[in-house]
Amino acid sequence: MAAIHNHSYLFLVFFMFEAIAVSATQFTLQNNCGYTVWPGTLSGNGVPISGDSGFALTPGATIQLSAPGGFSGRFWGRTGCNFNSTGAGKCITGDCGALKCPSGAGGAPPVSLVEFTIAKTNAEKDFYDVSLVDGYNVGIGVRSSGGSGDCQYAGCVADLNAICPKELQVMDNGAVVACKSACAQFNTAEYCCTGAHSTPATCSPTNYSRIFKSACPSAYSYAYDDASSTCTCAGADYLITFCPTAS
Ligand SMILES: *[C@@H]1O[C@H](CO)[C@@H](O)[C@H](O)[C@H]1NC(C)=O
Ligand SMILES: *[C@@H]1O[C@H](CO)[C@@H](O)[C@H](O)[C@H]1NC(C)=O
Repeated sequence: MAAIHNHSYLFLVFFMFEAIAVSATQFTLQNNCGYTVWPGTLSGNGVPISGDSGFALTPGATIQLSAPGGFSGRFWGRTGCNFNSTGAGKCITGDCGALKCPSGAGGAPPVSLVEFTIAKTNAEKDFYDVSLVDGYNVGIGVRSSGGSGDCQYAGCVADLNAICPKELQVMDNGAVVACKSACAQFNTAEYCCTGAHSTPATCSPTNYSRIFKSACPSAYSYAYDDASSTCTCAGADYLITFCPTAS
């Protein structure tokens, strides 16, 4: 009888360690911009992330969110938002319809994105990238901590609004507040990687994607940008910074 008890006790301990091994991934969101950013979060596969899916982050503020293994989703920053006391309102860039992004709602392009696929266990690799495929609105970077593997920095540190070609600029009050993708602006097969350009082999960098790529080499600049834009890391937590100053 004692032996059985001992056995189930050991099993319980083993189970607790297992639970720790698959513990949640922590995301710290930090606003390094000189203005308020309203981050939005979106689960792409139904695995929930903590928090309200949208909130204000004042300059210098941080917030911590956690997601269980298996989470796949995105983070972005909204700018120029106006919400009333019930959270109704909108943003000039990255809008999702309300302060708390409604279920399934992403940010309206042009918007810089951080994309994550978190592994089910700490022993497997997470995948993450910064994407400018839907354009750019605010600088954003991802730094891992405590993980193993490549764990490279991903980000777009440069201010693309400052070098955005005129034909891609989104203006508000005389200032460039976002930079559209060439696909969104011109909607051609070459820029959108559709039709005759729908495979990685037939969709090459363009004069516009090269502007994004040279400013932000570690970010996706168009749909079939090279695989070096995707980072991997196992068992890490992640710091997502808006307006990062260095890679
Ligand atoms: C907030 O805005 C929404 C949408 O315009 C409106 O329906 C609601 O009454 C407003 N609430 C307050 C408290 O102002
Ligand atoms: C990109 O190429 C197109 C087509 O040749 C041209 O019309 C456009 O001005 C170019 N834009 C830039 C920013 O080089």
